[in-house]
Amino acid sequence: MLIQSLKTRREKLAKLTDKPVFIAAGKRPSRNFPANKYPFRASSHFLYFAGIPIESAVIQLAQGKLTLYVDNPHPGSALWHGESPTRDDLATTIGADYTHSLSELPSAITNQFDDEIVNAIVTLRLHHDDYAISEIRNAVEVTTRSHLAGIKASRTSKTEAEVRSAMEAVIISHTMTTAYNSIVTVHGEVLHNEHYHHAIQPTDLILADVGAETQNGWAADVTRTWNASGKFSSTQRDLYNVVLAAHDAAIAAIKPGVEYKDLHLLACLKLTEGFVDLGILKGDAQTLVDRDAHALFFPHGVGHLLGLDVHDMEDLGDAAGYAKGRTRSDRFGLGFLRLDRPLQTGMVVTIEPGFYQVPAILNDPKNREKYNDVVNWECLEQFSDVRGIRIEDDVLVTDRGFEVLTQDIPVTIDQLESLVNC
Ligand code: GLY
Ligand code: MN
Repeated sequence: MLIQSLKTRREKLAKLTDKPVFIAAGKRPSRNFPANKYPFRASSHFLYFAGIPIESAVIQLAQGKLTLYVDNPHPGSALWHGESPTRDDLATTIGADYTHSLSELPSAITNQFDDEIVNAIVTLRLHHDDYAISEIRNAVEVTTRSHLAGIKASRTSKTEAEVRSAMEAVIISHTMTTAYNSIVTVHGEVLHNEHYHHAIQPTDLILADVGAETQNGWAADVTRTWNASGKFSSTQRDLYNVVLAAHDAAIAAIKPGVEYKDLHLLACLKLTEGFVDLGILKGDAQTLVDRDAHALFFPHGVGHLLGLDVHDMEDLGDAAGYAKGRTRSDRFGLGFLRLDRPLQTGMVVTIEPGFYQVPAILNDPKNREKYNDVVNWECLEQFSDVRGIRIEDDVLVTDRGFEVLTQDIPVTIDQLESLVNC
């Protein structure tokens, strides 16, 4: 399936641009001295057209043909690195039409794409072919096992690091890597928390945002939040169910043609309705969303594209995330929206609403003044055992609507509580 997909991808590229496209895989940076390297991760555009990571290689795509530029392994490298595939082996694996050594690479090439090439690549990578979807499913399967292991490990874990290690052990044991730095924390209000030293108290919510990446670079991206000892407090339960209702509503609305921004706004409305029901916000939910009051507690976008990158193609800025002619809003409640396009069959997107008590937002005097009339601060104080909740799933847009690829990961409070206690 790999070679056929690669052939089809480059034929499609040739229909979108007649410019030759050169893409470098990249190299491993050194941690300190030259022989001590970080793990190699090829450029995602290279992986899309070459299929596998080949360190230092460059491909040229032109008229539907692929030329592979790579050197044969140095004779001395086998001592340290074992036998490595030759240029011809690699060419066969990826179905290259021509091969050359790196010294034959035209000297004027750059890895910068112009607008025409960016548009062509975005058009292709926006919706996934069968091979890509099967790879994402592989990443999802391992991510599912990882989350099950993390949730089960939490009751006996003393620190965030122990839960993280239980989750990443599963990923490593399946010869995969994490698709991004794992977030496993009792401080879920720090959106991209990469500290793992905190002790876990039995009353804590643990937020785990962990996703596997296959050997050929395809990602999953999943967040679950659960009570460490397997019993949500009533305040944790209330807010968790508000976030879950927003998550379910946004997913249920997915189908081709729907604007992703509308899913975001739907999630914001559902969250706000829940906050009003709990007494945290006062007023009409739609009016509150129009005033961005929800962003006090949900300051990020409802999700993003997923594929070879966890935020797919974000190396191209907003060229992939935003449809032509659209730009980011400067509204408090929309500025971090990473995707503003109509959905199409074959896209994979995340849906990840949340609730966070971020001191820098809630204690900001400007926000206090602007939203003083709509926030019930005394009521909010009762929810102090909820610092951060996020619920994130990966969803394939299908002809008929959607498929939640990550549906086997427990998400209701009952499911999470019984898994912690099993
Ligand atoms: N998984 C982290 C993020 O989506 O930003
Ligand atoms: Mn995500």
